[in-house]
Formats: sequence, structure tokens, C-alpha cells
Amino acid sequence: MAEEKKLFKVTIDNITIDVEPGTSILNAARQIGGDVTPPAMCYYSKLKDSGGKCRTCLVEVAAGSTADPRPMPKLVASCRTNVMDGMVVKNITSDRVTDARNGVVEFLLINHPLDCPICDQAGECHLQDLSYEHGKGASRYEFKRRTFDKHELGPYIQLHMTRCILCYRCVYTADQVSNERRHGILSRGDHAEIATYIEKSLDNDFIGNVIDVCPVGALTDKTFRFKNRVWFTKPVDAHCKCDKCSGEVQLWMRGDEVLRVTARKDEWGEVKDTTKGEPGWICNTCRFERKKISDWVIEGPTQVNRHSVISQGHYVGVKKPHETIAKVMGGRDPKLLMNIKDVSEVNQVELSELKGPATSESFKQLKKGN
Ligand code: SF4
Ligand code: FES
Repeated sequence: MAEEKKLFKVTIDNITIDVEPGTSILNAARQIGGDVTPPAMCYYSKLKDSGGKCRTCLVEVAAGSTADPRPMPKLVASCRTNVMDGMVVKNITSDRVTDARNGVVEFLLINHPLDCPICDQAGECHLQDLSYEHGKGASRYEFKRRTFDKHELGPYIQLHMTRCILCYRCVYTADQVSNERRHGILSRGDHAEIATYIEKSLDNDFIGNVIDVCPVGALTDKTFRFKNRVWFTKPVDAHCKCDKCSGEVQLWMRGDEVLRVTARKDEWGEVKDTTKGEPGWICNTCRFERKKISDWVIEGPTQVNRHSVISQGHYVGVKKPHETIAKVMGGRDPKLLMNIKDVSEVNQVELSELKGPATSESFKQLKKGN
């Protein structure tokens, strides 16, 4: 009989679960779900080695393990710290964590423009969500913000380096998904930027996935730019027969028009696995060129369960407004909904009985019996 694997017991915000050894605190918290899960701006479960850059996932370890229950003196990055048996972690129950997260968000926003009203990522931007929860009303930063010119990355992608938070996700995507990385982060500190060599990897069929992994609006889809606000669109799951990728996508529609095609995302905003259990990265042809409804087989409305404005159910749980017309009309139906013959004398005569043109005079004569 195979030996049963020993699981580690970990307590996060007073909720205890058993997880496999080698699980990070962040992934253990994701198994619990809800508010207990720390936010993650750079970690991406589908990208090897991601994480450890943004510090938004900091948590307090109140007890290291059953064997050594001493607390860890500093906050730790939950995406890069594995659980130990008997570990006790505090996330939303720790004031130190909330303070630190407020500080991290303030740092992330130092150079980030607050251009949400004109940014295509608004409504599905992780930094926007974070700044609502942890941001301040005003900036304390007094120096000149660093700015960059926009880069046209070929016909489909635009880079707004000014919005980039240097999370490295697009670098890992080009490296691991397209197998043809020609860009990276050049320079250090305040001068660090995504290298312009990103243009050179654009002929790769899977480079469009950098748009899906970017947590902010630094990499945007030029075929969708300024076409619509994401919360006005209807997300639906669809598929097609594609010889390059799984063809399983999400369409963002307005009426019958396909405004945007993206990979399907899970509740953490990460690309979902396909029905075959592989990461659901999609190819450029599906993403940028199949914009006709006839290109797709529609499966049904997407169940958006992410905490965001786009989760405002377009289809499920719709509550109809309370009907007040009858009340204000004293119980009567409004005239427009009634048979007009019952409420207007003019219509008590049949038009076919009229002789000559329908004038007020001919109506009067008809009523008199002439
Ligand atoms: S462009 Fe986007 S994905 Fe790439 S490093 Fe910047 S924020 Fe991250
Ligand atoms: S998600 Fe952990 S450091 Fe960025």
C-alpha cells in the first residue's frame, strides 16, 4: 500500500487548512479563498520563477512552525515563502501587514499616472483595485515623475511604459510561452524600463499573451483601444478550431460585435487551464484576427467571479427594479399600454369608414353620421 503523504497544517487569519509540503503561503491562502488571500501583482502561477518583485503579498508569520514556533521578525513575501507544519500566518488580521501594504501601494503609485478614466485596463486593473483598498487620496511625492513615450509594438500591441510597475510577467511570458524572448528590463532603479527590443519578439504567434498577464494598462490591445469600457461589454465563453492554440477564449461583446478576444481568466485574474488541463494561452490569430461572430462557437456567458467591476453580473442574479407605475397611476395602467380606442374619442371611429382625407372635419362629420 502506498504511503500516505504527510500534509502540513497551516493557519491563515484563524482558518486552518492542510496543504501539501512545498506550497507557498499565497497558494495555501488561495485554497481558502476570499479576503484571506493576499493580493499579487507580480506572482503568476502559470509562469515559472514569477513573484518576489512587487511586495504586495507581504504577510506576517506569527509562528514559524510547530517545531520552532518563534514569529518571523520581518514581514515575508507570501508568494516566495513556503508553509511549514504548524505555521500561523496573519494577513488581514495584522495591522503591520495593512500598514506595509498601504506603503507598497504608495510606492507603486509614485510614478504610475492616475489616468484610469482614459486607460483601457480600467475596470480590470489589479493596481486600480489595490489603490481603492489601500491607496491614499493624495500623493506625498514632490519630485518629477518619470515618463516615457508610448511605443507602438507592431500592429497589435501598445506599450505605455509610464504605467509599467516592473513586475516582469511579460518578460517571463515571452520567455516561457513564446520561447522567443527578445526583451527584458534594462537599467536599474528609477531608470529601469522594459527594453525596446520587445518589438523584435512581435512576430511570435503567442506574444499577444503579454497583454493578458500585464496587471496594469502598460501593454494594451490596439484592436480594442478606446473602443469601449470593459464594464459595458458582455463576456462570453467561445471556442473555435485553431491549429495553433486550444481556441478556447473569452469574447467581449457589445450587441453582436466582438470587440475583444482574450484568454479565459480565473478568479485571480490569471489565464485558466483549458478543458484538456493545459494553460489556456491563446495565439495571435485568435486574439487579434477572429473578430467576427461567425468565427466562433458561443458556449454561453462567462461566470466572472473576480472581485472587480467586471464581476457585476451581466446575466446572472439580475434584479429587476421595483415596478412603481401602477402605484403612481392609482392602480390604473398607463395610457400608452392601453388600447387607444378605449381612451380617445377620436379613435371610436374606424379609419376605413372615413371618406376622403383624415381631417378633424371629416371625423366630426363621420360622428354625426354623415
Ligand atoms: S509591461 Fe506590464 S507585464 Fe511587463 S513588466 Fe510592466 S507591468 Fe509587468
Ligand atoms: S506577488 Fe509576491 S512579491 Fe509580488
